[in-house]
Amino acid sequence: MARVDVSRAANIVVVAGSSGSGKSEWVKRQIRRKRRVIVWDPDGEYDGQRFASVRELLQVARANPAGPGRYCLTSARLADFDLWAKIAFAWANCVAVAEETADVTSPGKAPEGWGQLVRRGRKRGITVIGVTQRPAESDKTIMGNATLIHCGRLARDKDRRYMAQELDCPLDALPTEPLEWVERRPGGEFKTGKLFFRGQKKPIFTPKK
Ligand SMILES: Nc1ncnc2c1ncn2[C@@H]1O[C@H](COP(=O)(O)OP(=O)(O)OP(=O)(O)O)[C@@H](O)[C@H]1O
Ligand SMILES: [Mg+2]
Repeated sequence: MARVDVSRAANIVVVAGSSGSGKSEWVKRQIRRKRRVIVWDPDGEYDGQRFASVRELLQVARANPAGPGRYCLTSARLADFDLWAKIAFAWANCVAVAEETADVTSPGKAPEGWGQLVRRGRKRGITVIGVTQRPAESDKTIMGNATLIHCGRLARDKDRRYMAQELDCPLDALPTEPLEWVERRPGGEFKTGKLFFRGQKKPIFTPKK
């Protein structure tokens, strides 16, 4: 079991946006240089050692309690999500990324392992990143504990209203184009930006405050 350190700062990130808005690309950039990463990766799109079996992931993670590692579980089964979250919690000192939390959580109920990861991961050196296309239908535990909310273009009105409320910004301050984003740390400054790819023209994104 990892050493518990209550003095650690929480690092809990919610990433919301419709399909193709640039969520996963943004997350991939955030974790590029991280030493220990564990991903709930139903689409198998992250770099690293891929596992279809949660049992195999458990064995490999157990054998590597402190070394570098980049593990992706490519399952989409709800039962596996709970186990993945428990493995990430036990592995500790890592970044745990969960793709499309609306498929495996709901506003009312988070699987036990996920709730534990979000609420108690801080003391175990875990940064949690939860990604969702449908924030209004995803679990609220992570939203309530988020230290950073990052949001791309959202197609559905319901999600836009929900995120504007969480970000404490007017509806029309939310992105309208793919790859644009806005973000805020609770109580912090409202920031805007756009993902930029090599070879592209410099992005023009005029923020509306
Ligand atoms: N090399 C590139 N040059 C320009 N644009 C790119 C490049 N690579 C990816 N993109 C853009 O980034 C978008 C992909 O973003 P990303 O995979 O992060 O979407 P997403 O929000 O995670 O969507 P989903 O919810 O479907 O997973 C694509 O729509 C594409 O337009
Ligand atoms: Mg994605």
